[in-house]
Amino acid sequence: MTDYSKLAGGNIGSLVPYKPGKPIEELKREFGLERVIKLASNENPLGPSPKVTGALIETLPEISRYPDGDAYMLRQAVSKKLNVPPDQLLFGAGSNEIIELLLRTFVKPGEYTVSPSPSFSVYSIISQAMGTRCEWAPTSPTFETDLDRLIAAVKPGVRVVFLASPNNPTGRYINSNDLKTFMQKVPGDTIIAMDEAYCEFTDAPDYPETLGWYKEYPNMVLMRTFSKAYGLAGLRIGYCIADKMCCEMMNRVRQPFNTNMLAQIAAAIAINDEEWLKNVLRNNTEGKKYLYEEFEKLGIKYIPTQANFILADVGDGMAVFEKLLQKGVIVRFMGKELPSYIRVSIGTPEENKIFLKALKEIIVG
Ligand SMILES: Cc1ncc(COP(=O)(O)O)c(C=O)c1O
Repeated sequence: MTDYSKLAGGNIGSLVPYKPGKPIEELKREFGLERVIKLASNENPLGPSPKVTGALIETLPEISRYPDGDAYMLRQAVSKKLNVPPDQLLFGAGSNEIIELLLRTFVKPGEYTVSPSPSFSVYSIISQAMGTRCEWAPTSPTFETDLDRLIAAVKPGVRVVFLASPNNPTGRYINSNDLKTFMQKVPGDTIIAMDEAYCEFTDAPDYPETLGWYKEYPNMVLMRTFSKAYGLAGLRIGYCIADKMCCEMMNRVRQPFNTNMLAQIAAAIAINDEEWLKNVLRNNTEGKKYLYEEFEKLGIKYIPTQANFILADVGDGMAVFEKLLQKGVIVRFMGKELPSYIRVSIGTPEENKIFLKALKEIIVG
């Protein structure tokens, strides 16, 4: 008899897998719906740049070849665009893979990770899967990251601190001064994994311009992704900007062909299509304003966001989530941790209207 749950070990046996937003097709089948909109995974509602789709079609005949394991073209494109040395970039299959690589490379037996809570659940899922744990440091009642509390949680043995700004699911951010003070206090052998998955959407004047910070703070690893503002979630491509030796160590651990050919080409084009990015950001700003106004009319409290989603207090999060599903709108229920909230991604103007109409029917009747 082979008992795989025993073979996997206790850390895997008790692991609760990540629950992605419900796929559109699944909901259509479940409720016999013709039209379903998905505002659950903070994807780009406008899709990728048309330049990207054109280049992908041209590249399709090449896919019998392995990709460039070093992602040379993409490395050059990102290096040039962000003015970062090419050897201080490391690419992964989404920033999720960067999170995993960081832990596989640097977290040794007995060491663990820390993050403010609530935040991106993947930090703790990957930590646990790696045989370690992520300790959560609570945020303030209004979800502001409490950096004093976080510093207090950085005890010996904490190898990585995950810090998402803007944070998922709250949309809150850490301002430049506070982040600097935090970096000055944190020990140099604690890696600060600064997760900037949503940085392109920020408009707060004191949002930190962290790109050059690796010079002063070599323990900062900046993680970014093409999944959100650049609309490439389905291709799985993200990266980090870090100290040269940090990238070199992680490079030893990563799979030789971890990022695929289509993703590399798409990302190299996307990062240079500023016009498309402007469209995406404009849509987000306008959608955010509209949703704020409508939430206020409905008396729904929300957390002001710096990202492409809004955390809204709807009273009974589960009930509203389920009623929205029946009306063909997929949002994110926040679970036991935030039971009165839903998180809604900002969509196209039409999607935002459909969502609000459905929400109004549920709340007002
Ligand atoms: C804060 C945060 N970091 C990282 C990711 C992962 O993005 P990806 O693996 O698609 O790059 C997400 C996705 O939702 C996120 O919200």
